[in-house]
Amino acid sequence: MKPMLEVTDLAVSYGDGGRTTTVLDGLSLTVGTDEVLCLLGPSGCGKSTLLRCLAGLRRPDRGEVRLRGEVVDGVPEGLAVVFQDYGRSLMPWASVARNVDFGLSRALDRAERRARTDEALAAVGLADVARQRPGRLSGGMQQRVAIARALAARPTLLLMDEPFASVDALTRADLEDLLLRVRRDYGVTVLLVTHDIDESVYLGDRVVVLSPRPARLVADLAVDLPRERDQIATRGSDAFVRLRTLAAEHLRAT
Ligand SMILES: Nc1ncnc2c1ncn2[C@@H]1O[C@H](COP(=O)(O)OP(=O)(O)O)[C@@H](O)[C@H]1O
Ligand SMILES: [Mg+2]
Repeated sequence: MKPMLEVTDLAVSYGDGGRTTTVLDGLSLTVGTDEVLCLLGPSGCGKSTLLRCLAGLRRPDRGEVRLRGEVVDGVPEGLAVVFQDYGRSLMPWASVARNVDFGLSRALDRAERRARTDEALAAVGLADVARQRPGRLSGGMQQRVAIARALAARPTLLLMDEPFASVDALTRADLEDLLLRVRRDYGVTVLLVTHDIDESVYLGDRVVVLSPRPARLVADLAVDLPRERDQIATRGSDAFVRLRTLAAEHLRAT
């Protein structure tokens, strides 16, 4: 299968004055088309830095990122990002619908943008709050607005940086299932960063475990669970428990 994303020998250091922090030092990774790849790594290992490079928001010191074969050197077409900090990624003064519309290219005409906004809001179950301001919604709903904004652009690759880390556990389970549904209905490739072992196995087709800084690949696990997942049945299955144990062992060994 043709890869959606190819990362080769990526290196990034942050320097402030005399001190340099090497965050990535020769990281290579491939994400297949139509795959949900979960990147699991300890806090501070360089996950967000990696995503910023993939999204064209930071130029790596060394190495290359290719999206569908094309070198990324700027914010690429066909890519959408959902950040952890949804509160700050939404415009508080604009309606939910306007926030979603904002993510769309001005090259699309108004009717097309309206249709896409409505469809994306319906897909995340927020059609009835389209006219409200995001500040009046719960954290989980605000994160759904951010997901709708990403989906409305019809991305081929969706990058998600700990997207469910700041919502409560029940909302989190709902958002996880929403992501799986959206993935099935939209056929989008997903690269999701998390530090939650169970979440990585529940959502992923593959789980890649990263070491502490500078992030290296320490394991690449194929998640051989049925594609249809269920919060209770899947998490209780022997195959799930085996995988989460394996991922935990790799994480601990780093
Ligand atoms: N803009 C920056 N300037 C200096 N250091 C940074 C910057 N961004 C991140 N770092 C440092 O780089 C390391 C990796 O950060 P990050 O990529 O955010 O990790 P993660 O997302 O895995 O928690 C951390 O030690 C962090 O403090
Ligand atoms: Mg991070």
